[in-house]
Amino acid sequence: AHCASQTVFGEGSETSKWMIVGEQPGDQEDIQGRPFVGPAGKLLDQCLEHAGLSRQQLYITNAVKHFRFEPRGKRRLHKTPSVGHIDACRWWLVQERKFVKPKNILAMGATAARSILGHQVSVNDARGRSHLQPDGSRVFVTVHPSYLLRLTDPDTRRSETDRFIEDLKCFGE
Ligand code: URA
Repeated sequence: AHCASQTVFGEGSETSKWMIVGEQPGDQEDIQGRPFVGPAGKLLDQCLEHAGLSRQQLYITNAVKHFRFEPRGKRRLHKTPSVGHIDACRWWLVQERKFVKPKNILAMGATAARSILGHQVSVNDARGRSHLQPDGSRVFVTVHPSYLLRLTDPDTRRSETDRFIEDLKCFGE
């Protein structure tokens, strides 16, 4: 097995009204031990700024706490976490929610949405409205910033990025 270097926990304001949940640490996150410090994190920071939010105000974490990858020469290629990985890590996310008590939770991508909502969802179907939870918190679902990075058509990338920023604004209210 190819093992991650370290566990990457959440970070940020521990009394924040806002919690952002990603999928799992990437290559850079695994090396630095911090969430969203690689290319997806840089894009997320820019979009947050456009939405009037900053990283310091937020608590940011991942559904899965270890980097899962396939070695390709010197590179380590991302592998999507399995349902088993999501379920194994859900306990930590539940604890993070209990400590931070965020009012608004943003699940970016299908893995985060599955972990937070507890069942498989289509990001497209779940997007564009909030999902009220029994504890009074609201869950918002949107795409993962890595999805935006993978879009090669400039017009599509611009319109999808604008849509992502609109989702961040709703979450940030
Ligand atoms: N992608 C994620 O989902 N989380 C990170 O921390 C980095 C990239």
